[in-house]
Amino acid sequence: MSVLSIDAERLLSRIRDLGEVGRDGNGRLTRLAASEADKSGRDRLVQWLRDADLEIAVDQIGNIFGVWRDAGNADKAPMLIGSHIDTVIDAGIYDGCYGVLSGLEVIQTLMEAGTALAHPIAIAAFTNEEGVRYAPDMMGSLVYAGGLSVDEALATVGTDGSVLGEELRRIGYAGAAGTDLGKPHAYVELHVEQGPVLEREGVPIGAVENLQGISWQRVTIEGVANHAGTTPMAMRRDAGYAAASVIGFLHDRATNSNTPTVATVGCIALEPNAINVIPSRATFTVDLRDPDAERLKEEEAALAGYLQDLAAAENMTTSTERLARFEPVTFDARIVGLIEEAARRRGLASKRMTSGAGHDAQMIARIAPAAMIFVPSVGGISHNPREHTADADLVAGANVLLDLIQRLAAN
Ligand code: GLV
Ligand code: MN
Ligand code: MN
Repeated sequence: MSVLSIDAERLLSRIRDLGEVGRDGNGRLTRLAASEADKSGRDRLVQWLRDADLEIAVDQIGNIFGVWRDAGNADKAPMLIGSHIDTVIDAGIYDGCYGVLSGLEVIQTLMEAGTALAHPIAIAAFTNEEGVRYAPDMMGSLVYAGGLSVDEALATVGTDGSVLGEELRRIGYAGAAGTDLGKPHAYVELHVEQGPVLEREGVPIGAVENLQGISWQRVTIEGVANHAGTTPMAMRRDAGYAAASVIGFLHDRATNSNTPTVATVGCIALEPNAINVIPSRATFTVDLRDPDAERLKEEEAALAGYLQDLAAAENMTTSTERLARFEPVTFDARIVGLIEEAARRRGLASKRMTSGAGHDAQMIARIAPAAMIFVPSVGGISHNPREHTADADLVAGANVLLDLIQRLAAN
């Protein structure tokens, strides 16, 4: 196998460059799916794909592809490398972008070396991986894998009342039918770990063998608005208090469980949201995750039971709406082994691990052999502007990806 290496400076400068696209007046990086800022990020990526002489395609859900084929492999299924360039609110610069730009870097390195491969190589930037504006998350890859119809996805109403399909049209990224690449030969995603394990253990490469299940719900609790000064405590039907007790329940249950279960309430709104009015309604999101399918079900059932008891005890009503539900995923064992081997050949230690975050790879795993490579995240911090990975780790991960892609696309 060749001992090619990626152009580290080209990769790092693109990551930094894309990381400046979509900053607001306060310097916060926010490129929510199909927003004006996302358009700017997409435009920058497409320009780089064009500069690299890749064939560009945009499918109906707005996934962007850059494809490198030659006369010898044009009729074969593509080796797909993917991730996303949409972000959370006040994001770091690596989540998703590192994987997409490393894919581009790998293709350019192979093109420049005149490498002949049995399969075309393509990169994908999937629409709405984060799911912050439109649920569910990983939406573009879910549609690609056939897990959600294009029409249903395009009709999704966002947190701001916008409709995804209209927004994609507005920013110029609603592609035509028949533009996706079909079932890939295999799929690999390179990503920052976003957790503390690799840094803590001093290991530069994660060979990701599975990914935990994800449950997203929106909970609404209806109480009764009343005067904050005159209503005795025993006479209140306080939806704000009820929401706080649910948050406490979830936190304590996950903390005391001795299992990897994690629970988060990330959005909350009270109505009428006034200092001297007892809240009549609380709406909040619940993000529950667990690598074990049965346990995730048990956690959902425990929440449902708690809400039922709470409604009875406080004389309120509760309702839940499912926003996303994905089972745990096991990645392709052969590719995981090849990641370990590629790391070893580069003199890099690796560790098999579970992904705590959701990724497009979990959707593409439904239709093709798939796995992921992780690199360390400083302090385990992500979904935060302080997200950071050392340059040397970014470059090492991209070189492991380069070797792996050559191996997978060879036959
Ligand atoms: C995606 O970033 C997730 O929520 O795991
Ligand atoms: Mn990501
Ligand atoms: Mn993310």
